[in-house]
Amino acid sequence: MAVGHVLEGDAVRRQDPELADVLLAERERQSSTLQLIAAENFMSPAVLAALASPPANKYAEGYPGNRYHGGCEVVDLAERLAVERATALFGAEHANVQAHSGSSAVLAAYAALLRPGDTVLALGLHYGGHLTHGSPANFSGRWFDFVGYGVDAESGLVDHDQVRALARNHRPKAIVCGSIAYPRHLDHAFFREVADEVGAYLIADAAHPIGLVAGGVAPSPVPYADIVCATTHKVLRGPRGGMILCGAELAERVDRAVFPFTQGGAQMNAVAAKAVAFGEAATPAFAAYAHRVVANARTLAAALAAEGLIVVTGGTDTHLVVADPAPLGVDGRTARGRLAAAGIVLDCCALPHDDDRGLRLGTAAVTTQGMGAREMTFVAGLLASVLRGGTEPARAREDVRELAAAFPPYPR
Ligand SMILES: Cc1ncc(COP(=O)(O)O)c(C=O)c1O
Repeated sequence: MAVGHVLEGDAVRRQDPELADVLLAERERQSSTLQLIAAENFMSPAVLAALASPPANKYAEGYPGNRYHGGCEVVDLAERLAVERATALFGAEHANVQAHSGSSAVLAAYAALLRPGDTVLALGLHYGGHLTHGSPANFSGRWFDFVGYGVDAESGLVDHDQVRALARNHRPKAIVCGSIAYPRHLDHAFFREVADEVGAYLIADAAHPIGLVAGGVAPSPVPYADIVCATTHKVLRGPRGGMILCGAELAERVDRAVFPFTQGGAQMNAVAAKAVAFGEAATPAFAAYAHRVVANARTLAAALAAEGLIVVTGGTDTHLVVADPAPLGVDGRTARGRLAAAGIVLDCCALPHDDDRGLRLGTAAVTTQGMGAREMTFVAGLLASVLRGGTEPARAREDVRELAAAFPPYPR
């Protein structure tokens, strides 16, 4: 498959130069700036090629061997491969690989286990809970009665005593563990124990760490949670999409909760691309990548701390670093804007110790590009200098351009 063809969008250029320019501009942006958004990564050329492959044309409502459409015998093979590879990779009895996104996976998990109005205990949004963990702007907050636990203001760690007390008081039907910005490993055994004590289901939303789990650098929630929800596009380096893992006894409920309850036809190109990504994630090369992701995050966290930023929890176990730039004289939102002008692309996030916003950084994408400790230290120094006002963003932009050019995400 001509990967260059997919990346360059030759067919698009011939037919629609206006849109082709947009695709090219985004390719240029991604390869000339630093992608430190913790939820992003660069798919391999093989995953990208599978995404732009003929299964994209196929309607396939249902599951392999039991479809509502004819002509599914070939895409069935792709889905079977994806499911087999996911169950083997994560040691799960069952995998549903059709969820369109991480949010769809969580929606399906709730649909499988809960009824509207049920009480659910999850990390509060202010502490790094996801929209699907009870935001009033999301279906979760409207249809369920969410109670939020928090993290300790000083340590930044999940407040286990509070989790236990809230569970005893509110007797939730489900407890959710998972976060968009928690830099440490969650104690799944603890959550299982509390869930068992109050008779709740345990749902692990492992959207962020699932790739680290695949690479053997983070503990797996699979032995503890009734249902594990995940995304396939973060550290895992697959296509944008979702996945659900569970035991055999919940398999049918989970599958029905995805289709036909919350989704229609599966996106078979995405399912095929997930199969490719799971295949890649099972290799020693991916395990080595996952180790480098964490090593880079630790180096970045230490270098940011040395530059004077407050690093939440004092470091990281994962791909994710949360830092407060306040000691450099800027709040998170201002910092994000200034850094964007320098080509350092990252997110803001809540801080446990302050109402102001902090910065969330991730090392999945830059590690895929081949960057290591030297580059992480350089990036931390440049970032701090921009925030202190020592380096103009436009000047830093040139340094970033040079660094990014030395580590192209895709071969030219
Ligand atoms: C913990 C958590 N859950 C769910 C999601 C939702 O994933 P998606 O954006 O694919 O819907 C995310 C996305 O970052 C997440 O971090």
